Amino acid sequence: MVEKEALGFLGGGNMGEALIKGLLNTSIVPPHKILVFDVSNERLDYLKKMYQITPCATLEEMVSPCGTIIIAVKPQTMEPVLKQLGTCKNMRALVISIAAGFSLERLAGSLPEKTPVIRVMPNTPALVQEGTSALARGENVSEQQMDFALKIFNSVGKAIIVEEKWMDAVTGLSGSGPAYVLMLMESLMDAGVLEGLPRQVSRELVLQTFLGTAHMVLETGKHPAELKDLITSPGGTTIEGLKVLEERGTRGALMQAVRAATLRSRELGES
Ligand SMILES: NC(=O)c1ccc[n+]([C@@H]2O[C@H](COP(=O)([O-])OP(=O)(O)OC[C@H]3O[C@@H](n4cnc5c(N)ncnc54)[C@H](OP(=O)(O)O)[C@@H]3O)[C@@H](O)[C@H]2O)c1
Repeated sequence: MVEKEALGFLGGGNMGEALIKGLLNTSIVPPHKILVFDVSNERLDYLKKMYQITPCATLEEMVSPCGTIIIAVKPQTMEPVLKQLGTCKNMRALVISIAAGFSLERLAGSLPEKTPVIRVMPNTPALVQEGTSALARGENVSEQQMDFALKIFNSVGKAIIVEEKWMDAVTGLSGSGPAYVLMLMESLMDAGVLEGLPRQVSRELVLQTFLGTAHMVLETGKHPAELKDLITSPGGTTIEGLKVLEERGTRGALMQAVRAATLRSRELGES
């Protein structure tokens, strides 16, 4: 039973910590079943103090009791880390990687034969347990392991399963997405200030507008265009604003942004 064994974090940085927090908040794994190995002793001390999880002095020590290992190091550190993991005795865990652009083939190729691997693309709102994660299933992964992986990433937001061939598009859309949304937010906040609103007032209005609109789409299940039509009265204010956005090619610009980020993700994955 994969869930009854220990869960190991190889790398306990921002994303590792977000996942640990999510798992503990949702009681999916008790703290004594979470192990972490990180090159930074300071980080290990912090994680132990903050979450009462078990820090490990070596990777070997972490690997032995683990049924699942989440690799949460930067992509440029992946190769040496995988090599080290592959040579650990008693390595029989499901391996989950969140490294951007690191394919299932490359993952599996560096680990003992038949190691089950899952590739995940989370995004930064996971840091506040509101992330969006896409999971691609590798070979040798059982239904039970896949369910467990979904539980882990649902604990920091919402997780879905996708085919690996979609991972570059996922990276360009939801991986980079928070940056697009933040830029839109910042622009609207400035727009409010331009119209004379105090910055704090503008910030509150913009934030709640984003939050409320997302909830409205989710809860009504309606198409965004249908909800937009409800706000857009004939000859009114909203249609004047929308006309400018259409004239400036906002839709096309967003599509091109996602296309450019998707292509860049593909390029980085091939390099
Ligand atoms: N942050 C995000 O929103 C986000 C979104 C999508 C995907 N990801 C992916 O998540 C992964 C982790 O990102 P992050 O933001 O959490 O990075 P991070 O904060 O830098 O965390 C990585 C941790 O791993 C440690 N580490 C480095 N080399 C190690 C080794 N050989 N063995 C064990 N630990 C080692 C680092 O220590 P030092 O700092 O001392 O090197 C650091 O504490 C990346 O691959 C990234 O692509 C992140």
